[in-house]
Amino acid sequence: MTRSEIEDKADFGQIRYAQLWEDADVLTEALGDCVGGTLVSICSAGDNALAMLTLDPARVVVVDLSMAQIACLRLRIGAFSMLGHTEFLELMGARPSNRRTALLMRALAGQDAETQAFWTARADQVQTFGAGGVGKFERYFRLFRRYCLPLVHSQGTIDDIFVSRPEPQRQEFLNNRFNTWRWRLLLNVFFSRFVMGRMGRDKAFFDHVDGSPAQHVARRINQAAVANDPADNPYLHWIMKGTHGNALPMTWRAEHYETIRGRLDRLQIMPGSLEAFIATGDKADGFNLSDIFEYMSPQVFTAVYGAILNAASPGARLVYWNMMAPRRVPPAYRPRVKTQTDLQDRLKARDKAFFYSDFVVEQVKA
Ligand SMILES: C[S@@+](CC[C@H](N)C(=O)[O-])C[C@H]1O[C@@H](n2cnc3c(N)ncnc32)[C@H](O)[C@@H]1O
Repeated sequence: MTRSEIEDKADFGQIRYAQLWEDADVLTEALGDCVGGTLVSICSAGDNALAMLTLDPARVVVVDLSMAQIACLRLRIGAFSMLGHTEFLELMGARPSNRRTALLMRALAGQDAETQAFWTARADQVQTFGAGGVGKFERYFRLFRRYCLPLVHSQGTIDDIFVSRPEPQRQEFLNNRFNTWRWRLLLNVFFSRFVMGRMGRDKAFFDHVDGSPAQHVARRINQAAVANDPADNPYLHWIMKGTHGNALPMTWRAEHYETIRGRLDRLQIMPGSLEAFIATGDKADGFNLSDIFEYMSPQVFTAVYGAILNAASPGARLVYWNMMAPRRVPPAYRPRVKTQTDLQDRLKARDKAFFYSDFVVEQVKA
Protein backbone atom coordinates (compact mmCIF):
# COMPACT_ATOMS: atom_id res chain seq x y z
CA MET A 1 0.00 0.00 0.00
CA THR A 2 2.98 2.32 -0.42
CA ARG A 3 1.61 3.81 -3.62
CA SER A 4 -1.23 6.19 -2.90
CA GLU A 5 -4.50 5.96 -4.84
CA ILE A 6 -4.49 9.66 -5.81
CA GLU A 7 -0.96 9.35 -7.27
CA ASP A 8 -2.44 7.62 -10.31
CA LYS A 9 -5.07 10.30 -10.93
CA ALA A 10 -3.82 13.84 -10.36
CA ASP A 11 -0.98 15.88 -11.84
CA PHE A 12 1.49 16.88 -9.13
CA GLY A 13 3.95 18.83 -11.28
CA GLN A 14 2.68 22.29 -10.34
CA ILE A 15 2.20 24.08 -7.04
CA ARG A 16 -1.39 23.57 -5.99
CA TYR A 17 -1.25 25.34 -2.63
CA ALA A 18 1.39 28.06 -2.31
CA GLN A 19 0.26 28.70 1.24
CA LEU A 20 -1.51 26.52 3.76
CA TRP A 21 -5.27 26.93 3.79
CA GLU A 22 -5.63 25.05 7.08
CA ASP A 23 -5.51 26.89 10.40
CA ALA A 24 -2.31 26.04 12.30
CA ASP A 25 -3.65 27.62 15.50
CA VAL A 26 -6.30 24.91 15.78
CA LEU A 27 -3.93 22.21 14.48
CA THR A 28 -1.25 22.82 17.11
CA GLU A 29 -3.77 23.02 19.93
CA ALA A 30 -5.39 19.80 18.73
CA LEU A 31 -2.09 17.91 18.71
CA GLY A 32 -1.67 18.56 22.45
CA ASP A 33 1.55 17.97 24.36
CA CYS A 34 4.16 16.72 21.89
CA VAL A 35 7.34 17.85 23.62
CA GLY A 36 10.23 15.57 22.65
CA GLY A 37 8.04 13.40 20.42
CA THR A 38 7.93 12.53 16.73
CA LEU A 39 5.28 14.26 14.65
CA VAL A 40 4.26 13.54 11.08
CA SER A 41 2.85 16.21 8.80
CA ILE A 42 1.53 16.34 5.28
CA CYS A 43 3.62 19.09 3.68
CA SER A 44 1.29 20.98 1.35
CA ALA A 45 2.90 24.46 1.33
CA GLY A 46 4.89 23.64 4.47
CA ASP A 47 3.48 26.24 6.85
CA ASN A 48 1.81 23.78 9.20
CA ALA A 49 4.82 21.48 9.47
CA LEU A 50 6.74 24.60 10.51
CA ALA A 51 4.02 25.59 13.00
CA MET A 52 4.34 22.12 14.58
CA LEU A 53 7.93 23.01 15.55
CA THR A 54 6.48 25.40 18.15
CA LEU A 55 5.26 22.29 20.03
CA ASP A 56 8.92 21.47 20.74
CA PRO A 57 8.97 17.95 19.26
CA ALA A 58 12.23 16.08 18.68
CA ARG A 59 11.37 15.95 14.97
CA VAL A 60 8.66 16.61 12.43
CA VAL A 61 8.64 14.13 9.54
CA VAL A 62 7.18 15.88 6.49
CA VAL A 63 5.69 13.84 3.64
CA ASP A 64 4.14 14.81 0.34
CA LEU A 65 3.54 13.15 -2.99
CA SER A 66 4.29 16.40 -4.77
CA MET A 67 7.82 17.68 -5.28
CA ALA A 68 6.35 21.11 -6.05
CA GLN A 69 4.81 21.22 -2.57
CA ILE A 70 8.06 20.06 -0.97
CA ALA A 71 9.78 22.92 -2.85
CA CYS A 72 7.39 25.32 -1.05
CA LEU A 73 8.68 24.04 2.29
CA ARG A 74 12.31 24.25 1.17
CA LEU A 75 11.80 27.88 0.16
CA ARG A 76 10.35 28.64 3.60
CA ILE A 77 13.31 26.95 5.27
CA GLY A 78 15.60 29.20 3.24
CA ALA A 79 13.51 32.27 4.01
CA PHE A 80 13.40 31.63 7.77
CA SER A 81 17.17 31.07 7.72
CA MET A 82 18.21 34.04 5.58
CA LEU A 83 15.56 36.75 6.00
CA GLY A 84 14.21 38.90 8.79
CA HIS A 85 10.53 38.62 9.67
CA THR A 86 9.39 41.70 7.72
CA GLU A 87 11.31 40.51 4.67
CA PHE A 88 9.72 37.08 5.04
CA LEU A 89 6.23 38.62 4.98
CA GLU A 90 7.10 40.62 1.88
CA LEU A 91 8.50 37.58 0.07
CA MET A 92 5.45 35.50 0.88
CA GLY A 93 3.03 38.20 -0.29
CA ALA A 94 1.45 38.97 3.08
CA ARG A 95 2.70 42.54 2.69
CA PRO A 96 3.20 44.67 -0.44
CA SER A 97 6.75 44.68 -1.83
CA ASN A 98 8.71 45.70 -4.89
CA ARG A 99 11.82 43.71 -3.99
CA ARG A 100 10.57 40.13 -3.89
CA THR A 101 12.94 38.84 -6.57
CA ALA A 102 15.93 39.97 -4.52
CA LEU A 103 14.44 38.44 -1.35
CA LEU A 104 13.76 35.21 -3.24
CA MET A 105 17.38 34.96 -4.35
CA ARG A 106 18.60 35.50 -0.80
CA ALA A 107 16.18 32.88 0.56
CA LEU A 108 17.35 30.36 -2.04
CA ALA A 109 21.06 30.90 -1.47
CA GLY A 110 21.63 27.86 0.77
CA GLN A 111 19.14 25.55 -0.94
CA ASP A 112 19.82 22.65 -3.32
CA ALA A 113 20.11 23.24 -7.07
CA GLU A 114 16.70 21.68 -7.82
CA THR A 115 14.87 23.99 -5.40
CA GLN A 116 16.78 26.98 -6.75
CA ALA A 117 15.88 26.10 -10.35
CA PHE A 118 12.25 25.45 -9.44
CA TRP A 119 11.80 28.87 -7.82
CA THR A 120 14.01 30.84 -10.20
CA ALA A 121 11.68 29.74 -12.99
CA ARG A 122 8.83 31.31 -11.00
CA ALA A 123 10.63 34.51 -9.97
CA ASP A 124 8.38 36.80 -12.03
CA GLN A 125 5.24 35.39 -10.48
CA VAL A 126 6.76 35.61 -7.01
CA GLN A 127 7.66 39.25 -7.66
CA THR A 128 4.07 40.01 -8.61
CA PHE A 129 2.00 37.86 -6.25
CA GLY A 130 4.37 36.75 -3.49
CA ALA A 131 5.58 33.18 -2.96
CA GLY A 132 2.36 32.42 -1.11
CA GLY A 133 0.26 33.50 -4.09
CA VAL A 134 1.60 31.36 -6.95
CA GLY A 135 -0.33 28.11 -6.53
CA LYS A 136 -3.29 26.90 -8.55
CA PHE A 137 -5.57 27.42 -5.57
CA GLU A 138 -4.41 31.04 -5.04
CA ARG A 139 -4.77 31.71 -8.78
CA TYR A 140 -8.34 30.53 -8.50
CA PHE A 141 -9.01 33.01 -5.68
CA ARG A 142 -7.26 35.72 -7.71
CA LEU A 143 -9.61 35.18 -10.65
CA PHE A 144 -12.54 35.27 -8.26
CA ARG A 145 -11.28 38.54 -6.74
CA ARG A 146 -10.42 40.23 -10.00
CA TYR A 147 -13.27 39.27 -12.27
CA CYS A 148 -16.18 38.11 -10.13
CA LEU A 149 -16.11 39.99 -6.85
CA PRO A 150 -16.26 43.48 -8.46
CA LEU A 151 -19.51 42.48 -10.19
CA VAL A 152 -21.05 41.91 -6.79
CA HIS A 153 -19.50 44.23 -4.21
CA SER A 154 -17.80 47.63 -4.19
CA GLN A 155 -14.29 48.00 -2.77
CA GLY A 156 -15.88 49.96 0.09
CA THR A 157 -18.04 46.98 1.09
CA ILE A 158 -15.06 44.61 0.84
CA ASP A 159 -12.91 46.89 3.02
CA ASP A 160 -15.76 47.15 5.50
CA ILE A 161 -15.73 43.38 6.11
CA PHE A 162 -12.48 43.81 8.01
CA VAL A 163 -13.63 46.57 10.33
CA SER A 164 -13.93 44.96 13.76
CA ARG A 165 -17.48 45.09 15.21
CA PRO A 166 -19.54 43.18 17.80
CA GLU A 167 -21.28 39.96 16.75
CA PRO A 168 -24.84 41.35 16.37
CA GLN A 169 -23.50 44.01 14.00
CA ARG A 170 -21.55 41.39 12.06
CA GLN A 171 -24.80 39.50 11.51
CA GLU A 172 -26.47 42.71 10.37
CA PHE A 173 -23.60 43.45 7.99
CA LEU A 174 -23.76 39.96 6.49
CA ASN A 175 -27.55 40.03 6.10
CA ASN A 176 -27.95 43.57 4.84
CA ARG A 177 -24.77 44.47 3.03
CA PHE A 178 -23.00 41.29 2.02
CA ASN A 179 -25.40 38.44 1.36
CA THR A 180 -27.10 40.03 -1.65
CA TRP A 181 -28.76 38.06 -4.46
CA ARG A 182 -25.76 38.84 -6.66
CA TRP A 183 -23.44 37.33 -4.05
CA ARG A 184 -25.54 34.17 -3.79
CA LEU A 185 -25.58 33.82 -7.57
CA LEU A 186 -21.81 34.25 -7.72
CA LEU A 187 -21.27 31.57 -5.06
CA ASN A 188 -23.40 29.11 -6.96
CA VAL A 189 -21.56 29.62 -10.22
CA PHE A 190 -18.02 29.99 -8.94
CA PHE A 191 -18.15 27.17 -6.47
CA SER A 192 -19.93 24.77 -8.77
CA ARG A 193 -18.27 21.38 -9.10
CA PHE A 194 -17.54 22.13 -12.73
CA VAL A 195 -15.68 25.38 -12.15
CA MET A 196 -13.84 24.25 -9.02
CA GLY A 197 -12.77 21.02 -10.65
CA ARG A 198 -11.46 22.92 -13.63
CA MET A 199 -9.73 25.80 -11.95
CA GLY A 200 -9.10 25.16 -8.29
CA ARG A 201 -8.82 21.51 -7.52
CA ASP A 202 -8.11 18.51 -9.67
CA LYS A 203 -11.32 16.90 -10.92
CA ALA A 204 -10.23 13.58 -9.40
CA PHE A 205 -10.55 15.15 -5.96
CA PHE A 206 -14.31 15.37 -6.40
CA ASP A 207 -14.77 11.68 -7.13
CA HIS A 208 -15.90 10.91 -3.59
CA VAL A 209 -17.49 14.20 -2.61
CA ASP A 210 -21.22 14.65 -1.94
CA GLY A 211 -23.24 17.88 -2.13
CA SER A 212 -22.50 21.21 -3.73
CA PRO A 213 -19.33 23.12 -2.81
CA ALA A 214 -21.37 26.37 -2.87
CA GLN A 215 -23.74 25.11 -0.13
CA HIS A 216 -20.75 24.38 2.06
CA VAL A 217 -19.15 27.74 1.38
CA ALA A 218 -22.36 29.64 2.29
CA ARG A 219 -22.55 27.81 5.65
CA ARG A 220 -18.92 28.38 6.39
CA ILE A 221 -19.05 32.09 5.57
CA ASN A 222 -21.38 32.49 8.51
CA GLN A 223 -18.71 31.04 10.77
CA ALA A 224 -16.01 33.30 9.34
CA ALA A 225 -18.05 36.50 9.18
CA VAL A 226 -20.43 36.33 12.14
CA ALA A 227 -19.47 33.71 14.73
CA ASN A 228 -15.86 34.97 14.55
CA ASP A 229 -14.48 38.44 13.82
CA PRO A 230 -13.37 38.72 10.15
CA ALA A 231 -10.80 41.32 11.25
CA ASP A 232 -8.88 38.42 12.86
CA ASN A 233 -9.05 36.19 9.80
CA PRO A 234 -5.99 36.17 7.50
CA TYR A 235 -7.48 33.59 5.11
CA LEU A 236 -10.64 35.60 4.42
CA HIS A 237 -8.51 38.71 4.01
CA TRP A 238 -6.31 37.05 1.37
CA ILE A 239 -9.30 35.69 -0.53
CA MET A 240 -10.99 39.08 -0.60
CA LYS A 241 -7.94 41.38 -0.92
CA GLY A 242 -4.94 39.32 -2.10
CA THR A 243 -2.70 40.02 0.91
CA HIS A 244 -2.97 39.52 4.64
CA GLY A 245 -4.24 42.33 6.83
CA ASN A 246 -3.21 42.81 10.43
CA ALA A 247 -3.99 39.16 11.16
CA LEU A 248 -1.50 36.53 9.96
CA PRO A 249 -1.53 32.72 9.86
CA MET A 250 0.26 31.28 12.90
CA THR A 251 3.51 30.33 11.16
CA TRP A 252 3.90 33.80 9.65
CA ARG A 253 3.42 35.69 12.92
CA ALA A 254 6.40 37.51 14.46
CA GLU A 255 5.93 35.80 17.83
CA HIS A 256 6.90 32.38 16.38
CA TYR A 257 9.61 33.45 13.93
CA GLU A 258 12.69 32.90 16.10
CA THR A 259 11.35 29.66 17.63
CA ILE A 260 10.73 28.15 14.21
CA ARG A 261 14.03 29.43 12.84
CA GLY A 262 15.89 27.83 15.75
CA ARG A 263 14.28 24.42 15.20
CA LEU A 264 14.47 24.04 11.41
CA ASP A 265 16.98 21.19 11.82
CA ARG A 266 14.24 19.10 13.43
CA LEU A 267 12.38 18.82 10.12
CA GLN A 268 12.88 15.52 8.33
CA ILE A 269 11.63 15.84 4.77
CA MET A 270 10.51 12.55 3.22
CA PRO A 271 9.22 13.08 -0.33
CA GLY A 272 6.58 10.47 -1.09
CA SER A 273 3.31 9.22 0.31
CA LEU A 274 2.24 9.01 3.92
CA GLU A 275 1.72 5.32 3.20
CA ALA A 276 5.45 5.05 2.38
CA PHE A 277 6.35 6.60 5.73
CA ILE A 278 4.10 4.10 7.51
CA ALA A 279 5.77 1.23 5.66
CA THR A 280 9.13 2.17 7.21
CA GLY A 281 7.90 0.85 10.59
CA ASP A 282 8.70 4.19 12.26
CA LYS A 283 6.28 5.38 14.98
CA ALA A 284 4.85 8.83 15.62
CA ASP A 285 3.20 10.66 18.52
CA GLY A 286 0.96 12.88 16.43
CA PHE A 287 -0.22 13.28 12.83
CA ASN A 288 -1.27 16.31 10.81
CA LEU A 289 -3.19 14.61 8.02
CA SER A 290 -4.48 17.74 6.27
CA ASP A 291 -7.61 16.65 4.38
CA ILE A 292 -5.98 13.74 2.53
CA PHE A 293 -8.65 11.22 3.55
CA GLU A 294 -11.31 12.80 1.41
CA TYR A 295 -9.12 12.26 -1.64
CA MET A 296 -9.45 8.49 -1.00
CA SER A 297 -12.31 6.11 -1.63
CA PRO A 298 -13.94 4.84 1.61
CA GLN A 299 -12.22 1.45 1.17
CA VAL A 300 -8.77 2.94 0.71
CA PHE A 301 -9.42 5.34 3.60
CA THR A 302 -10.20 2.41 5.91
CA ALA A 303 -7.02 0.58 4.91
CA VAL A 304 -4.82 3.69 5.27
CA TYR A 305 -6.42 4.59 8.61
CA GLY A 306 -5.59 1.11 9.96
CA ALA A 307 -2.01 1.44 8.75
CA ILE A 308 -1.67 4.85 10.47
CA LEU A 309 -2.86 3.32 13.75
CA ASN A 310 -0.09 0.75 13.47
CA ALA A 311 2.42 3.57 13.06
CA ALA A 312 1.00 5.55 15.99
CA SER A 313 2.32 5.45 19.55
CA PRO A 314 -0.24 5.11 22.36
CA GLY A 315 -1.79 8.53 23.03
CA ALA A 316 -0.96 9.86 19.54
CA ARG A 317 -3.52 12.18 18.04
CA LEU A 318 -4.71 12.09 14.44
CA VAL A 319 -5.79 15.56 13.34
CA TYR A 320 -7.50 16.13 10.00
CA TRP A 321 -10.05 18.14 8.10
CA ASN A 322 -12.82 17.22 5.70
CA MET A 323 -14.09 19.67 3.14
CA MET A 324 -16.99 17.82 1.63
CA ALA A 325 -16.58 14.07 1.97
CA PRO A 326 -17.37 12.74 5.45
CA ARG A 327 -14.38 10.91 6.95
CA ARG A 328 -14.07 9.80 10.57
CA VAL A 329 -12.59 6.77 12.29
CA PRO A 330 -13.90 3.74 10.34
CA PRO A 331 -16.14 1.42 12.43
CA ALA A 332 -13.54 -1.37 12.47
CA TYR A 333 -11.07 0.88 14.31
CA ARG A 334 -13.42 2.59 16.78
CA PRO A 335 -12.32 0.42 19.71
CA ARG A 336 -8.74 1.63 19.27
CA VAL A 337 -9.32 5.40 19.29
CA LYS A 338 -11.16 8.01 21.30
CA THR A 339 -12.63 11.03 19.54
CA GLN A 340 -11.67 14.20 21.43
CA THR A 341 -15.16 15.61 20.98
CA ASP A 342 -14.98 18.62 23.30
CA LEU A 343 -11.60 19.71 22.02
CA GLN A 344 -12.42 19.25 18.34
CA ASP A 345 -15.77 21.05 18.64
CA ARG A 346 -14.24 23.96 20.49
CA LEU A 347 -11.49 24.26 17.89
CA LYS A 348 -13.83 23.75 14.94
CA ALA A 349 -15.83 26.77 16.08
CA ARG A 350 -12.65 28.87 16.03
CA ASP A 351 -11.18 27.50 12.77
CA LYS A 352 -10.33 30.55 10.66
CA ALA A 353 -9.90 28.47 7.48
CA PHE A 354 -13.63 28.41 7.28
CA PHE A 355 -14.30 26.33 4.17
CA TYR A 356 -13.93 22.90 5.77
CA SER A 357 -17.08 21.15 6.89
CA ASP A 358 -15.40 19.11 9.60
CA PHE A 359 -12.37 19.08 11.85
CA VAL A 360 -11.45 15.81 13.54
CA VAL A 361 -9.25 14.99 16.53
CA GLU A 362 -8.93 11.29 17.31
CA GLN A 363 -6.57 9.87 19.93
CA VAL A 364 -5.06 6.40 19.98
CA LYS A 365 -5.96 4.67 23.24
CA ALA A 366 -3.08 3.88 25.57
C1 LIG B 1 -4.55 17.01 0.71
S1 LIG B 1 -3.90 18.49 0.00
C2 LIG B 1 -4.89 19.66 0.81
C3 LIG B 1 -4.31 21.00 0.88
C4 LIG B 1 -4.88 21.94 1.81
N1 LIG B 1 -6.24 21.92 2.09
C5 LIG B 1 -4.14 23.20 2.01
O1 LIG B 1 -4.71 24.12 2.53
O2 LIG B 1 -2.98 23.30 1.70
C6 LIG B 1 -2.38 18.66 0.79
C7 LIG B 1 -1.25 17.89 0.22
O3 LIG B 1 -1.45 16.51 0.44
C8 LIG B 1 -0.68 15.81 -0.49
N2 LIG B 1 -1.16 14.43 -0.45
C9 LIG B 1 -2.39 13.96 -0.80
N3 LIG B 1 -2.48 12.64 -0.52
C10 LIG B 1 -1.29 12.28 0.05
C11 LIG B 1 -0.74 11.05 0.55
N4 LIG B 1 -1.47 9.95 0.55
N5 LIG B 1 0.52 11.05 1.04
C12 LIG B 1 1.27 12.19 1.06
N6 LIG B 1 0.81 13.37 0.58
C13 LIG B 1 -0.44 13.42 0.10
C14 LIG B 1 -0.89 16.59 -1.77
O4 LIG B 1 0.20 16.41 -2.65
C15 LIG B 1 -0.97 18.02 -1.26
O5 LIG B 1 0.25 18.70 -1.41
